[in-house]
Amino acid sequence: MQTDFLVIGSGIAGLSFAIKTAKNFPDKEITILTKANTDETNTKYAQGGIAVMSGHDSDTFDQHIQDTLIAGDGLCNREIVEIVVKEGPERVAELIEWGANFDKDSKGEYLQGKEGGHSQHRILHHKDITGFEIERALLTEMQQYPNIKVYNHWFVIDIITQHHLGYLVTKSTSDIECYGVYALNLHNGKTERILSRVTLMASGGVGQVYRTTTNPSIATGDGIAMVYRAKGRIENMEFIQFHPTAMYQPNTHQSFLITEAVRGDGGILRNHKGEAFMERYDSRKDLAPRDIVARAIDNEMKRSGTEFVYLDCRQMDKERFLQHFPNIYEACKRNGIDVFEQMIPVAPAAHYCCGGIKTDEHGCSSIRYLYACGECAATGLHGANRLASNSLLEALVFAHRCAEHATALFHNTSWKTEVPAWDTSGTTDPREMILITQGLKELQSTMSDYVGIVRNNIRLKRAMRRLDLLFEESQELYASTTLSPQLCELRNLITIGYLIVKSAELRQESRGLHFTTDYPEKAAILQNVVL
Ligand code: FAD
Ligand code: SIN
Repeated sequence: MQTDFLVIGSGIAGLSFAIKTAKNFPDKEITILTKANTDETNTKYAQGGIAVMSGHDSDTFDQHIQDTLIAGDGLCNREIVEIVVKEGPERVAELIEWGANFDKDSKGEYLQGKEGGHSQHRILHHKDITGFEIERALLTEMQQYPNIKVYNHWFVIDIITQHHLGYLVTKSTSDIECYGVYALNLHNGKTERILSRVTLMASGGVGQVYRTTTNPSIATGDGIAMVYRAKGRIENMEFIQFHPTAMYQPNTHQSFLITEAVRGDGGILRNHKGEAFMERYDSRKDLAPRDIVARAIDNEMKRSGTEFVYLDCRQMDKERFLQHFPNIYEACKRNGIDVFEQMIPVAPAAHYCCGGIKTDEHGCSSIRYLYACGECAATGLHGANRLASNSLLEALVFAHRCAEHATALFHNTSWKTEVPAWDTSGTTDPREMILITQGLKELQSTMSDYVGIVRNNIRLKRAMRRLDLLFEESQELYASTTLSPQLCELRNLITIGYLIVKSAELRQESRGLHFTTDYPEKAAILQNVVL
């Protein structure tokens, strides 16, 4: 197969880029590959909303910029922060034009929510299912463009570079080029070569590397792992954001999120003694940035020897709660909790990857003809800790920027037809799936037990030893077994684990989401960890 533009992923980043590019090039083909059902994305599960300075109240660009910089704890790229915040309103207006509905008051003004780290109410939302609404709107808008072709249940395995033509490609190769991808068609089990002139990686997050996550099962860091294997640059992977308030569901791997907007509306965190403990940790109390709230909860749990704390919504206005958070109300009810009578047990869960594929201000990765956008990219916006609800905004702004840049680049591109077909020789069907499923469990336990919210050198070293073994075993399986998505995901997740641990080892300070008891202070010199 060959296509003009190839997009890997059908979340907010991939779909917005595809729509823009289809509009810019009505006679060219845009192919979207996505490994699950088209709408199964992190995007679909976003709750709180999009942070955007919408000009209805006292908010200013400067305040949104400052809030982002403060949350990022010194490591945000100011130029990128300004780009995202200032271009945000135009991009969100476009999303609204494409049909996304955000809640309004009785006068027709947009309602703006508040979340941790925001000094203003500035979060546009659609009840507590903002992501679902955005994904719906984008998929509907996409149908206007017959030149966009979506292939779901196609699993991208690797990006194709000069390496596949037999050239030596190393980290110091300066002109690595992307010619397309190899992808496993899950409908027939065949691995195909897909050539493209321009490729966008929009493969989302990595939450599945931990035992408990708010992310759906697709979030296995495939794109980041692929780019790392292709010798592209990966940045700041130690900054994994744990969302403070995922519902405590001990037997569930994907925890249901209780949006921070609930705390923005008056929800209060309490420990097992019923104390509103956040006031002991930060003057912003329950609405401090996420790293601070998650660490405070972790500390309370460790002190009391419990696995959760509580989110108390009993004092909140019933009617308002039901109007803003109907999905959360129902989910709690399904779990036997009446939020107006009982407190919700909550615990931090892996939520967002602040690092990823290093990109510039146009979304270009270090590999030519390969852009990266959305959660898999490290644009410099989030620094050491993402400000709540900045992620959807970042994806919209950078999808636009990637599309603009790709429009100019496209005319100087061509297909590399000499790329060989996928070679399946020497592989057989897996005899024991347990090798894969158990490997995944070991990985998730290792990451959760040793590379969680609070870290230290001994735990990181231990984690690395276990990852080395898991890596070796997965490589053996990969070399000898017919490919399956489970095996590819395990291989990718082990790489993600390695990138997180290695970056954490290299960051000998505590900053933002990376807290280590061996280096509890911030270093004097600001640095990004690039692998
Ligand atoms: P995704 O939406 O995750 O899409 C990734 C796509 O890539 C999927 O289609 C997937 O199938 C595909 N893919 C991955 N690997 C492969 C492969 N190997 N082959 C083919 N396809 C592949 N952010 C906010 O700003 N505001 C919020 O309110 C908010 N709430 C959130 C709530 C939850 C529960 C979660 C999990 C996240 C939330 N976030 C929020 C974060 C935000 O939703 C995500 O960061 C954002 O949606 C990521 O979009 P994306 O397009 O980069 O990736
Ligand atoms: C939430 O709604 O609390 C999640 C928002 C985000 O992750 O940005």
